[in-house]
Amino acid sequence: MKIAVRYFTRGGNTKKLAEAVAAAVGVKAEPVSVPLNEDVDILFLGSSVYAYGVDDAVKAFIAGIQVKVGKVVNFSTAAVIKSTYKQVARLLEAKNIPFAAEEFACRGSFAMLHRGKPDEDDCKRAAEFAKRMVSEENIHG
Ligand SMILES: Cc1cc2nc3c(=O)[nH]c(=O)nc-3n(C[C@H](O)[C@H](O)[C@H](O)COP(=O)(O)O)c2cc1C
Repeated sequence: MKIAVRYFTRGGNTKKLAEAVAAAVGVKAEPVSVPLNEDVDILFLGSSVYAYGVDDAVKAFIAGIQVKVGKVVNFSTAAVIKSTYKQVARLLEAKNIPFAAEEFACRGSFAMLHRGKPDEDDCKRAAEFAKRMVSEENIHG
């Protein structure tokens, strides 16, 4: 199975999750500035929100996908909203790219809020989530 991990980060929070996810599934986490250059079965895509929206770099990455993606699995950090799922799903729908119903989301530090997040436990849970998504894909296709 071909797996890729892409993320966008401004402050490093989402990168922490991306690296935990990538290590768990045996690939390298790359920023969204690195386009997909081959078809993938699962794309783990990490993002967060800045003044309510995902960064334009995430929008451009999704808009620019030119390979076949079996399924996107969203993961995100945010300080206030639950996750970026809805926003990312809308972008994927516009490109007819399938996405998983499940996601991984946790708090990300912002100014005085949520210091130290995501922490070791969040990264561990993200890794377990990623492994589960891959094994379910192996079973159900
Ligand atoms: C300029 C800016 C605006 C933000 N706006 C929001 C927001 O509207 N809602 C929210 O939940 N979090 C907001 N946050 C918090 C980030 O989503 C959170 O810190 C996230 O973990 C950042 O991820 P990163 O370190 O990977 O860039 C904002 C952070 C910054 C720096």
